[in-house]
Amino acid sequence: MTTSPFLSLCTADAIQHAAEQLKAGHVVAFPTETVYGLGADAMSESAVKRIYEVKGRPTNHPLIVHVSSINALDSWAQDVPEYAIELARSFWPGPMTLILKRTDLAMDFITGSQDSVGIRVPNHPIALELLKQFELLGGQGVAAPSANRFGHVSPTSAGAVVQEIGDYLDKGELILDGGASNVGIESTIIDCRNTLPIILQPGVITDEMIYSAIDIDLGVTGVLDVRVSGALEKHYAPMAKVILNQTPTQGQAFMALSSSKTPEGVHRISSPSDIIEFARNLYAAMRMTDELGFTELVVHLPEGPGIEAALFDRLSKASKGR
Ligand code: TXA
Ligand code: MG
Repeated sequence: MTTSPFLSLCTADAIQHAAEQLKAGHVVAFPTETVYGLGADAMSESAVKRIYEVKGRPTNHPLIVHVSSINALDSWAQDVPEYAIELARSFWPGPMTLILKRTDLAMDFITGSQDSVGIRVPNHPIALELLKQFELLGGQGVAAPSANRFGHVSPTSAGAVVQEIGDYLDKGELILDGGASNVGIESTIIDCRNTLPIILQPGVITDEMIYSAIDIDLGVTGVLDVRVSGALEKHYAPMAKVILNQTPTQGQAFMALSSSKTPEGVHRISSPSDIIEFARNLYAAMRMTDELGFTELVVHLPEGPGIEAALFDRLSKASKGR
């Protein structure tokens, strides 16, 4: 893996250097607990423009601003409801993004010209250290989408980032290697601009966890603007066709909980022991399916309202193809 010219191990020096690169207007890919992000100074239009180039993503899609602590909330957001503060206190640092009314700091090139901004404090030691160092240099926040090409599966390892965007990075643009992402799917996105919170994208911070943290009902599940790229019908898709909950047959790749058996002639690609491990391994399993040359991946997903529902969201989008 160290053959890539971009990959860097995460020594203190490397993180400091990465923070300086960000402050100088360069992009840096970095690990978070959900998926790897492709970061840039959220205040710099030219740096943010580079994210869109590397990803091949339409420029009117909004980006999440990553900050090192809840203290930065007031700089980026205003009219923050009490329940949003409770959510932030309960789940940050963690796999949750809050959508809030923006301040002037959140410029059109971050928000896709919408009046809202997405903010997250990631729960990953390297991401947090990078953000802290960046803030010490005078930075306010790091805009970062998942570090994949537009429409592809999010990367959950540094190797997957190289695979996705290595060819599009310039000399000196870094990828920090922090190992495999522990959560494995993108953050829960919660719209906090109304009386009740509305989940725009399910994740491992589940409805139930939200209920018990803030003790108020959730609003009706959000209808997403098409500019919210996770809301596109076709997304997160590998090259292989993803088939949900059918019996796998000869020549297909197969992912299911370790308790289920593999039929004759079927290639078992992943056998997570529980739903948390299922989320952690899903995107790596999709990549492995493509790498091994399988054209179909059958996934048996257990039913449930929690993480199962978040995985169902990603898998039904993946099953629509690229
Ligand atoms: O876990 C994550 O959310 C990862 C890590 C790197 O933080 N980020 C990520 O970013 O997956 P991205 O850009 O690939 O997906 C974030 C989603 C997109 O669908 C984007 O449109 C939506 O969040 N989003 C960002 N800002 C928004 C806003 N102001 N209003 C509505 N949706 C927003
Ligand atoms: Mg993404």
